[in-house]
Amino acid sequence: MINVLFVCLGNICRSPMAEALFRDLVKKEDLADQIKVDSAATSSWHIGSAPHKGTLAILKKYNISANGLVGRQLTKRDFEKFDYIVGMDESNVKNIFEITGKPKHPKILRLLDLTEHKKDVPDPYYTGDFEETYQLVSEGCIALLEKIHTEQS
Ligand code: 4NP
Repeated sequence: MINVLFVCLGNICRSPMAEALFRDLVKKEDLADQIKVDSAATSSWHIGSAPHKGTLAILKKYNISANGLVGRQLTKRDFEKFDYIVGMDESNVKNIFEITGKPKHPKILRLLDLTEHKKDVPDPYYTGDFEETYQLVSEGCIALLEKIHTEQS
């Protein structure tokens, strides 16, 4: 089993979007029994919350299930449980290092570093542009699945 965890600041906009999108890709490749997907926040602000309505709307637009998306906070133990811990931006990655106590570990990544963009995923909580974020998260998720295929083959 391969465990993948997406991480952002609030776990209501970007990382639940990535969780749903990546789970959809995994399901379409018939890999649901081999790859498990989750998401978490670096903050404690939205523990137990449903995703932001903008994230729910964009997932609905692209016909991707939002089932089971509930806010939670990243813990130190997540470092042991997950094989890929993927932050949405540089500050997420810094906070992941702090919470897990594992700076610069290769299993901790920034999503768009896997693409040609090599930049932060813009936070639609502030930009209001859920479409832009969706397109970038989608590219990142495709690149991540390719990386997993390469590394696990
Ligand atoms: P996310 O966006 O990290 O993509 O979930 C945010 C969600 C909530 C807040 C900030 C960013 N907030 O300040 O509550």
